Amino acid sequence: MMFIVLEGIDGGGKTTQAARLGEWMSGLLGRDMVLVTKEPGGWPGGDAIRRLALGGNLSSAWGEFFLFMADRCEHVSSVIAPALQKGVCVICDRYTPSTLAYQVLSNPSIGSGAADYMTGMGEAIGLPRPDCVCLLDIGADMARRRLVARGKLNSFDARGRDYFERVRVAYDVLMKRSPGGWIKVDASKDENAVFEELKRGLERMFGTRLGGNAA
Ligand code: TYD
Repeated sequence: MMFIVLEGIDGGGKTTQAARLGEWMSGLLGRDMVLVTKEPGGWPGGDAIRRLALGGNLSSAWGEFFLFMADRCEHVSSVIAPALQKGVCVICDRYTPSTLAYQVLSNPSIGSGAADYMTGMGEAIGLPRPDCVCLLDIGADMARRRLVARGKLNSFDARGRDYFERVRVAYDVLMKRSPGGWIKVDASKDENAVFEELKRGLERMFGTRLGGNAA
């Protein structure tokens, strides 16, 4: 059982890399043994909560926080936990580090003091802990240029450069707090180079659990 999470600011290529990792791991483990999913909204019925969370009409930072947490509870209970229980490897595009980085550490109206509270809440709920968090690190300016080129600025993406720089720093803080379980790659490189780096990192981390071909 492997639970792998991809993280980073918008525009770092997480979705592309999640799909490529899914293909690669399906080749190693078998198609039925790999599941690629995402947050927010990666569960049946999750579209409505995704629209609400990303719609930009919320006035309360805590309201936003609890929406992402509620989305995660449903996602875990209906998608992630059943897959992990069957021994399926789950690759998830965003998970708890996103809420910690975007809602908690980068948002002054919640503040870093709530990080322990959120971690305690995750434990009380029984949210599974990722075996590995892959951090796709990229500067806010380059990430923004990519999003504009894709025509994909949602309300979060429109929050501006300073916010995304704060989120980027927040990810580094989170990584330093949990050494061992994180792989950080330079996501400003081209897609193939990033993929190769991710693969090497996962091979180092999981070794034979990735099947016969792994180091
Ligand atoms: P994402 O689905 O990665 O964007 P895309 O539209 O490119 O697929 O993420 C949507 C946004 O949601 C992103 O700006 C980050 C934000 N987000 C949070 O702020 N907190 C969270 O807990 C999660 C899961 C996402």
